[in-house]
Amino acid sequence: MKQEITFIQRKELKEKPEMASLGFGKYYSDYMFVMDYHVENGWYDPRIIPYAPLTLDPAAMVFHYGQAIFEGLKAYKAADGTIQLFRPEKNMKRLNDSCDRLCIPQIDETFLLRAIKQLIFTEKDWIPDGEGTSLYIRPFIFSTEPYLGVRPANQYKLLVILSPSGAYYGDQLSPVKIYVEEQYVRAVIGGVGHVKTSGNYAASMKAQEKAEANGFAQILWLDAKENKYVEEVGSMNIFFKINGEVVTPKLNGSILPGVTRDSVIELLKYWNIPVHEAKISIEEIFAAHERGELEEVFGAGTAAVISPVGELHWNERSITINDNKIGQLSQRIYEEITGIQLGKKGDPFNWTVKVAPVEV
Ligand code: COI
Repeated sequence: MKQEITFIQRKELKEKPEMASLGFGKYYSDYMFVMDYHVENGWYDPRIIPYAPLTLDPAAMVFHYGQAIFEGLKAYKAADGTIQLFRPEKNMKRLNDSCDRLCIPQIDETFLLRAIKQLIFTEKDWIPDGEGTSLYIRPFIFSTEPYLGVRPANQYKLLVILSPSGAYYGDQLSPVKIYVEEQYVRAVIGGVGHVKTSGNYAASMKAQEKAEANGFAQILWLDAKENKYVEEVGSMNIFFKINGEVVTPKLNGSILPGVTRDSVIELLKYWNIPVHEAKISIEEIFAAHERGELEEVFGAGTAAVISPVGELHWNERSITINDNKIGQLSQRIYEEITGIQLGKKGDPFNWTVKVAPVEV
């Protein structure tokens, strides 16, 4: 693969949005990274070019058979102006795991991370520095070959776009209401639930729409076979604090292995707080609540960071968790993770990666 990244300058820069009211994923920076794949060339022509719409053949296979995968990570601006990424090598690795499951050719993880750093450095003025804000990075790959037969495509595009963003759910630490879904399922073991493919999100929308219509922010998915065991929330993994111990569903092949999930587990171990990855039924969660032992529930994800859950609705019952207030542990984890990301706290795990001009 050609390692030189071409740069095409745009004539005029866009006006930056009001950083105080960013919301999530609504604005895009001036440039994007693009690279193509052809079975005869491999990945080729890496370039940073002005952000603009794409032209695609209507027969491009992604429109018909859905070979599309993505990642989500963030760049942070520390108080001293340093730009940091958080465990980006995990996203590169997961991107390749998603490629593998969807029969998309592997990417060079080191090269893509270098390209992302270069793009971020070019776009450093787009990194917001307000409380709870960051530059959301969205790498994605999809099939472009015009062909209507069903098989893995011979042509793909990889793009990285950047979006200055604030909290995913309106107010960062206000507890959300979650609906435990029993009619629809997200993923089955042996399927694609453990990778980040667009179809997982398409499949979730019907239930999400239903939940929102009833005043819930998100769905808590149960396993597809028995409709019994907790899996994940649509945009984050889930944790329960029961009687002083933390439990999160064990990765089973249908749950997404979140980077924030892994970081929460590592932190809890570091703090000597008991944490278990286990198969846990929704019934057990409600029983723990009945015994007065369900102390906190929170979601963890790149976009959502740490999102306390204030209410769970399942089987015509609603339970309120921790008086619908953010729990002490959720708050502590949020502060530690965002503190590390923003360079305000020490980084004992070496999770942060600096984006400096010398590295690009
Ligand atoms: C992320 O947390 O980065 C995600 O990809 C969730 C998303 C679908 C907003």
